[in-house]
Amino acid sequence: MVRTHAESPRARCADERPTYFRRNPAQWEALEHCVLPWLVAERSPTVARPLRIWSAGCATGEEAFDLALTAHRVVGSADLAAVAILATDRCPDAITKARRGRYSHAACRGTTLEYRRQLFLRSQPPVSRAPACFTAGPDDREHEVDRRLASLVRFEVLDLEDQAMLERVRGLDLLLCRNVFDEVPRLERAVLWRRLRRCVRRGGYLVLGESERRCVDDSVATLQWRDAVVYRAL
Ligand SMILES: C[S@@+](CC[C@H](N)C(=O)[O-])C[C@H]1O[C@@H](n2cnc3c(N)ncnc32)[C@H](O)[C@@H]1O
Repeated sequence: MVRTHAESPRARCADERPTYFRRNPAQWEALEHCVLPWLVAERSPTVARPLRIWSAGCATGEEAFDLALTAHRVVGSADLAAVAILATDRCPDAITKARRGRYSHAACRGTTLEYRRQLFLRSQPPVSRAPACFTAGPDDREHEVDRRLASLVRFEVLDLEDQAMLERVRGLDLLLCRNVFDEVPRLERAVLWRRLRRCVRRGGYLVLGESERRCVDDSVATLQWRDAVVYRAL
C-alpha cells in the first residue's frame, strides 16, 4: 500500500522544493539523444508493453513533465501509448500541485520559447490582483501543461522508505532519482540505493543527481555522453 504523508511520521515535506524544468540540461540532452532512442530501438516489436519510466522524488512534477515531452520528441505523437511514466513523491502537497500541472514562469527558467510552446497550452494569466486594464507581465504568467503530455504521467504519493512498495516495482526501463538522497539520512542511503537499483531491469538506465551518485556500486556501468553521466544496469 502506498504510505501517505499523514500515515508516515518521517514523511515531512520540505517548505520549499527548489526544482524547475530542465534541471541539469546535460542529462536531458543525453536522455533525448541517447538513452530514450536506444530504449526505443531495443524494444522488441513483438512485446507490446510501454517503456516503463519512474521519476522517484518528483517534487511538484517538473521532472516528470520534462520526461513526457522528451519521450514525445523521441517517439512522436503516433506512439505516445508506448510510454508510461510513474512520478512519485512522499509529499502529498507536492503531488497535488503536480497533478494540477500549472507552473509559474519562474519554474520554466532555462527553457526555450520553443520548449514552452511544446510543453504548455497557451499561457494563462494568474488570478488577477491588478486593475483590469493591465495584462499579466511576462514573469507573472502561469503555464498549463498540455493535456496529451500530462496523460503520459501518473502521479502518486509514495515514500521511498516504504520497502514493501518498492519491492513491487520491477522491470523499469528508466529510473530518474535526482536530488532526493540529500533528504535521506546518510546511513540509509546505501540501502535505498540497492532497493532502487533492483527496480530497474538489466540493461535499463538510471539518471541520478549528485547525492545519489555517491551510492553507486558495481551493479551498474557508468556511461558518459558529452557532459552527462548516466548508468546502465548490469
Ligand atoms: C529537491 S526535490 C528534487 C526534485 C527533482 N527530482 C529534481 O531533481 O529537481 C527532492 C524531493 O524528494 C522528496 N523526497 C525526499 N525524501 C523522500 C522519500 N523518502 N520518499 C519520497 N520522496 C522523498 C522530497 O519530498 C522532495 O520533493
